[in-house]
Amino acid sequence: MNTQIDNLLHEYRKFPPSEEFARNAVATTELYEEAKADRLEFWARQARELLDWETPFTRTLDWSNPPFAKWFDDGRLNVAYNCLDRHVEAGNGDRVALHWEGEQGDSRTVTYADLTAEVKRAANVLSGLGIGEGDRVAIYLPMIPEAVVAMLAVARLGAVHSVIFGGFSADSIRSRVDDASAKLVITADGGWRKGKVSALKPAVDAALQARGDLGPQETVTNVLVVKRGENEIDWTDRDLWWHEEMAKAEPEHVAQSFPAENPLFILYTSGTTGKPKGILHTSGGYLTQCAFTHKIVFDLKPESDVYWCTADIGWVTGHSYVVYGPLANGASQVLYEGTPDTPHPGRWWEIIEKYKVTTFYTAPTAIRSFMKLGRKIPKQFDLSSVRLLGSVGEPINPEAWMWYRKVIGGKAAPVVDTWWQTETGAIMISALPGITETKPGSAQVPIPGINVDVVDDDGHHVGTGNGGLLVVAEPWPSMLRGIWGDPERFKETYWEKFGDKHLYFAGDGARLDHDSDIWLLGRVDDVMNVSGHRLSTAEIESALVAHPFTAEAAVVGAHDDTTGQAVVAFVIIKESMLEESAAVEDIAAVLRAHVGEQIGPIARPRDVFIVNELPKTRSGKIMRRLLRDVAEGREVGDTTTLADTTVMQIITGQVTAK
Ligand code: WT7
Repeated sequence: MNTQIDNLLHEYRKFPPSEEFARNAVATTELYEEAKADRLEFWARQARELLDWETPFTRTLDWSNPPFAKWFDDGRLNVAYNCLDRHVEAGNGDRVALHWEGEQGDSRTVTYADLTAEVKRAANVLSGLGIGEGDRVAIYLPMIPEAVVAMLAVARLGAVHSVIFGGFSADSIRSRVDDASAKLVITADGGWRKGKVSALKPAVDAALQARGDLGPQETVTNVLVVKRGENEIDWTDRDLWWHEEMAKAEPEHVAQSFPAENPLFILYTSGTTGKPKGILHTSGGYLTQCAFTHKIVFDLKPESDVYWCTADIGWVTGHSYVVYGPLANGASQVLYEGTPDTPHPGRWWEIIEKYKVTTFYTAPTAIRSFMKLGRKIPKQFDLSSVRLLGSVGEPINPEAWMWYRKVIGGKAAPVVDTWWQTETGAIMISALPGITETKPGSAQVPIPGINVDVVDDDGHHVGTGNGGLLVVAEPWPSMLRGIWGDPERFKETYWEKFGDKHLYFAGDGARLDHDSDIWLLGRVDDVMNVSGHRLSTAEIESALVAHPFTAEAAVVGAHDDTTGQAVVAFVIIKESMLEESAAVEDIAAVLRAHVGEQIGPIARPRDVFIVNELPKTRSGKIMRRLLRDVAEGREVGDTTTLADTTVMQIITGQVTAK
């Protein structure tokens, strides 16, 4: 890892924007100066210019009770109105909001007028089901227009959505629905993935039934079901078809305003313990930073651009850069249901050609998997419409960055590497196209109005050329407002690492190069990043130990050429189980499948190694660092703090024998 970092820091290639790009750029250097001169006034101006407020705010930031921030808190607005009605009122109702493309090639064109009409009806459906301000609605849908409609209908009512990624299992749905005490679940009979309809409703049914120690789920009163496939579904009294309710609903709905700090959504993300954290975002500040960053980082020209962010709405990128940022800005975008390689490996490039996509935003893991397939595939399509490329989710290695720029961007499109998190709500660090000279592999600079730093363990700035921990030094509009139901964990996890300095601890290592550009170096805690998705070692370990075979388990994230990191598990099997049961390979397969069922397929370990001991310190803490060495095929590091120093030899022997 260290040699890799050193190599990265010797990256001296820089790509200035073309003169033409710079001349027409939406971002300006004055933004930096203005934000520096008066940061709060800068954000207040963005909030006023980018959004419509029913009641204008007079207070920009209230930081009197850190870390609980309030932005624009005496203002009132409706988030859905800002994403929909106002564009129609401004005469842009005919503009395409969504170029929706199904995996099988079916498509729908949804204009701003259409989307507004759908959301109004859906809001009436939801209020008819008793949903109002502050109520929580769980959404478990594929990438279809109804997913966007559902989120905005919830927002329109001042209710709170909790979108659950369609790849999560019944147990994950249950814990999220319980934690938020959701009243309603919106799902579908299924969604297309890899050439077939994969069912969603059965997972919701299973989640709501009695399971394990839990009785039947009690807060959910209805399940609304969108018909996407032809899947047979088990019907219960609380289930309703989306299309039937929509047909019955009134078409008119006037949006009420809500306070800027009204909760907008909860999104669960993995932390360092087994229990996912419900990250809470509110309305006015969140929408301001989403709209601002979407506009300047993606150089948005709403009349002519076709923007495409490939993220699923189940992740924060889908919230901020599929739903809220682009729609607040009146952008036209592609929404694609399926997987990148179905029905053929050029599917994404075919979509870019078909819709003449100008701005493309995806994850390094996808770029690397296309690199592996070779440039022959994208070369079969006309990608000349592409003028800007974005990357998000994990560090992008310079090689992938160069390939992206050259093969997808025709050697001309700027590549912006955007660093942010579920918690930050919107982009925090990124080059600005047309302004910044881009540098392969580095996320580079904070956006105007954002103050980040790289510090040592005491919270002191490290200076150029040095590494440390990434922090956000001042509150920002789209910051998380807390962890749902757990203010103590919110304080402890993010705000107490550096005493009372009130620095936000992001959990990422970072380094500043000779230009003071920021390089992200991955997580410093027990959080993994697999294909840009965050997974917690503790969560997977607790799933493994929940299986009757398992005595003990340790999980690490090991380097993987395609997915960035891969889940590798070391498991001690109960003596009794080893005696009676079959081959070690079978046990490993059972455990892999078990994790898939408990959490979801993305959490399934790439490798499960059956071992008879785990490396522990004298105080009993598992030394995952050493297991990572083994998993990555390296010589094992310093073992002197182990209680039993021979353990690692045994484990290495067992793993290499496999
Ligand atoms: C973690 C946040 C942001 C939306 C998708 C992931 C890593 C994210 C970058 C980047 C290096 C990155 C960090 C961060 N990360 N973007 N451009 N360069 N690392 O959101 O699931 O909340 O994960 O993803 O480690 O802490 P998330």
